[in-house]
Amino acid sequence: MIYYLNITTLNVSLILFYLFIGCVCLTSSHVFLEYLSQTGFFYYCFSRSDRSALFGSIRLVSAPPVVAVHDGRRMGSGCREPAPRAECQTEAVLWSMSCFRLTRSMSGVLARVLFYPTLAYNVVMERVSSRWWFNRVDQTVILGALPFRSMTQELVNMENVKGVITMNEEYETKFFCNSEAEWRAAGVEQIRLSTVDLTGVPSLEHIHQGVDFVMKHRENGTSVYIHCKAGRSRSATMAAAYLIRIHCWSPEKACSMLAEVRPHILVRSAQLDILKKYHQQVCASGPNCV
Ligand SMILES: *[C@@H]1O[C@H](CO)[C@@H](O)[C@H](O)[C@H]1NC(C)=O
Repeated sequence: MIYYLNITTLNVSLILFYLFIGCVCLTSSHVFLEYLSQTGFFYYCFSRSDRSALFGSIRLVSAPPVVAVHDGRRMGSGCREPAPRAECQTEAVLWSMSCFRLTRSMSGVLARVLFYPTLAYNVVMERVSSRWWFNRVDQTVILGALPFRSMTQELVNMENVKGVITMNEEYETKFFCNSEAEWRAAGVEQIRLSTVDLTGVPSLEHIHQGVDFVMKHRENGTSVYIHCKAGRSRSATMAAAYLIRIHCWSPEKACSMLAEVRPHILVRSAQLDILKKYHQQVCASGPNCV
């Protein structure tokens, strides 16, 4: 009996050990993925479908890199000047090879596999760095990470939240977050504008829907919690669109103003492109468009 118990205990600790190692590996791969995304890797791999990825990355060799604003750093640029031409070409070829392998659907799978490790990474980062789980952008909008059930009272009572925009897919919010019915029971209206993690660019239609939702709450003087998993990319794109709508700022200015309140936001080139389209649509009539 004792022998049997020992074996079981050993097995359990081995399993826990492997789980731990697995989490460490996945979390460090997240750090690596984040590095890749900052160097523009994902933009060239995922924002263009299939073959155009190849042409997109080859164009890098001759065209100036696309630059997005984030925290003063250059983002989404492929080969930076003055990169030696040969090196640049090698990079472009390497990129295009990866692009063929990692297609759009793969990025959805990757997002699923990495969901829990990256969520754990966010929780740890909030503890060990100066990152906040959420930040208030203005009297209406709060930009944040996944709203855990335990945060409901704080958001409703202290932050006057009456609306939630969820940019996550269903599987991401299944276990830790309120369902639509649970939000409603707390007096909060939730809308879901699902966008795939890691590479996600919200559609123009979703951006309009989200910002219109915020504007209704703005008229009522209530707050909206805009979130994805980390409150860095998908939801930051939505919050930037809101700033564009009310101030008619350029997308770059909206992103840098947002980075003032939440420095670790990460608006990628493809997301900046969609914000530019949104800007053209809502700010075409000049600066007095509030
Ligand atoms: C705004 O307030 C009115 C009156 O209280 C309410 O009926 C309406 O649902 C509110 N709108 C939103 C978007 O919460």
